[in-house]
Amino acid sequence: MAVGIFDSGLGGLTVLDAVTKRLPEVPFVYFGDNAHAPYGVRDAQNIYDLTTAAVSRLFDAGCDVVILACNTASAAALRRMQESWVPADKRVLGVFVPLIEALTERRWGDNSPPREVAVQHVALFATPATVRSRAFQRELAFRAIGVDVEAQACGGVVDAIEDGDMILAEALVRSHVDALTRKMPDPEAAILGCTHYPLMEETFQDALGPDVRVFSQANLVAESLADYLDRHPDKLGAGTESAFLTTGDPKRVSARATQFLRRPITFDAA
Ligand code: DGL
Repeated sequence: MAVGIFDSGLGGLTVLDAVTKRLPEVPFVYFGDNAHAPYGVRDAQNIYDLTTAAVSRLFDAGCDVVILACNTASAAALRRMQESWVPADKRVLGVFVPLIEALTERRWGDNSPPREVAVQHVALFATPATVRSRAFQRELAFRAIGVDVEAQACGGVVDAIEDGDMILAEALVRSHVDALTRKMPDPEAAILGCTHYPLMEETFQDALGPDVRVFSQANLVAESLADYLDRHPDKLGAGTESAFLTTGDPKRVSARATQFLRRPITFDAA
């Protein structure tokens, strides 16, 4: 039994950490497509091709359920994959829905018409491809009305994090928050719509101020996966070993991952 976690690079480790804590008995196979990160500047076809190749590799590793712990892939490729690519006995889940459920305080499967919710001014921080896709606004519109979403494409942040340059990442986050608050001065909530951004959560919160509720995905995704596996225990897959796979240089990626998670992580070549 193993569950696959996919990200374009290291950001999905924030999700991996949360799911491992929530489901300690489940082996997870992590796939970081570090050779092709960042995805956020690629076009939808390219993101689709890269994501399907990575997910195939996770199916081969014995995973029947794969989480796209990458908003960019969830936004640009997931719907097309679910409609025409995922085999009937496999599942590929994205990271938007748990977030929107939390924001709108609605449960997945609540198919009642969209209604007014507690928040009205929401700041979305995401990669350029995620912002361009408008997938977040589309999913939100199924569940809520009257929510004003102001999106800020946070160019450069993922590259800085992948390079381990946290000083640059912090400066970029502050300038993106500044740009956002010039368009929407008083957001009530902020969505960190990229799995790399929880690594900068304190900076986002500090720049936004204490009155803004910052939603970050890792714990929400972990809860949602636990709930899914409870309802579909047969989807645990055939794999029995946890593993970390990368398309990048395993030595370099292992060193960065160890730095981020503050525990030894060893990646192998995918
Ligand atoms: N961490 C991914 C996301 O959640 C992708 C970042 C990137 O590769 O640009 O969007």
